[in-house]
This record gives sequence, structure tokens and C-alpha cells, in this order.
Amino acid sequence: MRLYQVNGDWITFLQDRQFRNELSDTLRSLDLARLQKYPPPKINGLPIGNETRVFSRFIRRQSSQLDASALSSLYRRFLSAEDKVLYQAFRMNEPLSPVEWSNIIGHDTVEKWIENRCLETMADGSLRCQFSIVSIDGIVFCVDPLKDHGKIWEPNFIVDQKSDISEEIQPFFHTYIGLDSLRMIELMKKEALPNGGRYLDCGPGCGSLLLYFGRRFDEALGVDISARAATLAQFNAELNGLSNCKTVCDDALAIEDKYGKFDLVSWNLPFIFMPAEHEDVFIDGYGGEMGIGLCLKFIETIPQLLSKRGLACVAALSPILSNGENVLEGRLREKLGSLGLDCTVKVAQISLAENRELWNFHRSHNISRFESVYLYIKAGTGRLNRIGSPVSRRVVDKLREQMYARRFSENRNNGR
Ligand SMILES: C[S@@+](CC[C@H](N)C(=O)[O-])C[C@H]1O[C@@H](n2cnc3c(N)ncnc32)[C@H](O)[C@@H]1O
Repeated sequence: MRLYQVNGDWITFLQDRQFRNELSDTLRSLDLARLQKYPPPKINGLPIGNETRVFSRFIRRQSSQLDASALSSLYRRFLSAEDKVLYQAFRMNEPLSPVEWSNIIGHDTVEKWIENRCLETMADGSLRCQFSIVSIDGIVFCVDPLKDHGKIWEPNFIVDQKSDISEEIQPFFHTYIGLDSLRMIELMKKEALPNGGRYLDCGPGCGSLLLYFGRRFDEALGVDISARAATLAQFNAELNGLSNCKTVCDDALAIEDKYGKFDLVSWNLPFIFMPAEHEDVFIDGYGGEMGIGLCLKFIETIPQLLSKRGLACVAALSPILSNGENVLEGRLREKLGSLGLDCTVKVAQISLAENRELWNFHRSHNISRFESVYLYIKAGTGRLNRIGSPVSRRVVDKLREQMYARRFSENRNNGR
């Protein structure tokens, strides 16, 4: 488990209302949403893939900030000199000189940001921002540094694992936003979602779904088990002037009817099947038994959360065994009737382990692949409806599967 020093963390300082307001004002004045069309570079995977999507988003000035492109540096040539510095400061988290920072936010604000741990002083005196900025359709999110431009570093407030947990030293969980957040937003917005009324987003992380869909509801509530995430999502709601969006730190699996009923419930939930020893480290990824343990537990609570007209949308990974058995759909068939729910399973694409260790772990549990699915759940009589991915997607998936199998096959690579 990673531990951190609470008083060194920039998110801790967001609890101070005055600083929070000042930080929001400064960030709003920079109009950082205009950087949203510039994609990060592709560091892993095939050089092609998302390019048509990224290009069409670039032309329409839509967000590609989580969608890596092999042509990232080419796109970034279109940045003006002023925007280039903003991109370096807030998206690449490159250290800049105190003078450059003063030019961006003003000398007094630089001092305040250092004091409140938003800027870290590096050994050579340069200053690095402790958060990244990501925008989706004009909503601006402050998040833990994304590190998707090739440099990986630990935040300076992470402490030795052997330290004792106390009020000052706590388990560290980073606040999450990723391509899967963007994909879920894009898929959900194509659905006939309820409007008005109440919306619950479980595990909002930095607030991506909560704020994106919260805009269309009278009231929106985010419930995250991580106190850092709950604080940050609340800050991001204020940053975007969404006073109808609130967040609390709570266990979404155990809220029952504590916060009332909701017309829309969503959760981009942790769905990775990984060894149990990772449970306490990756609370944003660890999905429990076969990656669906958490999902099935959550579905059992849905009847208590949904209003009569309510709809729940849950992102999950459905394990497919080597004999072709679809484990999630089998379990849903057993459960839905007794819960009084109907479910439509929409298959987006297949999902495969990204490293050999996980690949072998899945194989040792007889899993050949996962399907990335979105479950649309409402009151009903136990019906399960499946909508497969388009044929073109299935062809690409087949190729990807063969490529990954070749890459991770121990015999061919001799364990390299
Ligand atoms: C995959 S992240 C998704 C974050 C965000 N919704 C997004 O899509 O960008 C999963 C989130 O669920 C939260 N989480 C995990 N277990 C939880 C629980 N039992 N109750 C509430 N939140 C939980 C994690 O802290 C994390 O913020």
C-alpha cells in the first residue's frame, strides 16, 4: 500500500475555502478548456488506432486530451506560443521557471500556490504544477498529474511504505480520469437518459461523469470511498460553477437508501481482475472475483437506489472463459429476476491484459479475454438483452487478440 503525508498533498489544501476560491478564479481566468483538442502522444500500442477519431475531434475542437495519438507533436505545432506554455505547465507538468509561472498566474499567486502545495519547487529552482488540467466538452477538471507524456514520477508527498499510519500519514489513492472515462461519457450521451430529477455517480474520481451528466439534473451526488477523490470532485464542481453537484466520502456499496432514490445512477467501476494482494493499492481498478465481484455486489443494491423511472449505467469487463462461457451474463441471468431488474448488455469491444503477468494470471483462471460492456439496468422482470459490438469492431478485435497472444506467448518470447 502506498502511503502519503496528508499535509504535503495539494488536495488537502483545497479544504481551505478561501484558497479554493482563489484557485478556481485563477484557473477560470486562464480559459484552459481551449487546450482540449490536443491529444497526448502514443507511448504504447500500435501507432494507428484512434487517429480518425482524434482528427475529427481536433477539427471540431472537441476533447482528445485522454486519447493518445501518434501525431500528437504534429497537432501541438498548431498551439500559439502562449498556449504552448500553458500546455507544458498544466498538461505535461513540465517544470517552468518562477518567471514563466509569474507570467502565467502572477507573482503573488505563484507564492500562494507554493505555500498551498500546488507548485513543487524542484532542485534547480524551477516549479512544477502538482495537478494536471483536462477538459471534456468545455468542463475543466483538475486531476492528479496524468504523466501520459512519457515521464513518470512519484508525487513528493508519498512516504516510505514502512511508516506508521496516523492522522498525518494515510493510504494514498490517486484520483482517476482516463480514456475509459471519456469513452463512458461518449457512450452514455448517445442514450435517452432521464433529464431533471436526481443523479447519483458512484466513484466519481475527479468528477468526470458526475459533472458531465450532472449539468442536466436538478441535483447530482457523487459518492467516492476515497476522501481525496470526494474533495477533488467537489472542487471541480465549484470550478465549473455547478452548484447542484455535491460529493461525499462513503462506500457506494453500502449506502442503501441513505441519500434517497435517483433517476440516473452511474458507475465506471473498478473492473480489473488482478491478484487479491492488489486490493488495497488499486481501489480504482481492483474489481474483485474475476473482475466482476464488485459489479455484481453493486447490482444487488440497485433496486434500493433507483426511482421508478430510474436507469442505471454501469461499465464492466465481462470475462469470457476458454470454453466460450460468458461469466457475467450467466451470473446476471441468475440474479436479475429476484432483484426485479431488466438489463441490456452493450458490448463495446474486447479488452486484453496489458502485461504478461496479468495475461498469465487471467489464463491461469481459464479466462481467454474480457468484453468491455456497458450495462443499462432498470426495473423489470429479469430480462437480459445483449447487443453485440459492430462487425467492423469484431474484426479489429480478432486481430488485436491474435497480436496480444503472440506478444505474451511464453514459448515464442522465452519469457522476455
Ligand atoms: C475507475 S475509477 C472511475 C473514476 C471516474 N468515475 C471516472 O470515470 O473517471 C473508480 C472509482 O471508484 C472509487 N471506488 C472504489 N470502490 C468504491 C466504493 N466501494 N465506494 C465508492 N467509491 C469507490 C475509486 O475511489 C475511484 O474513484
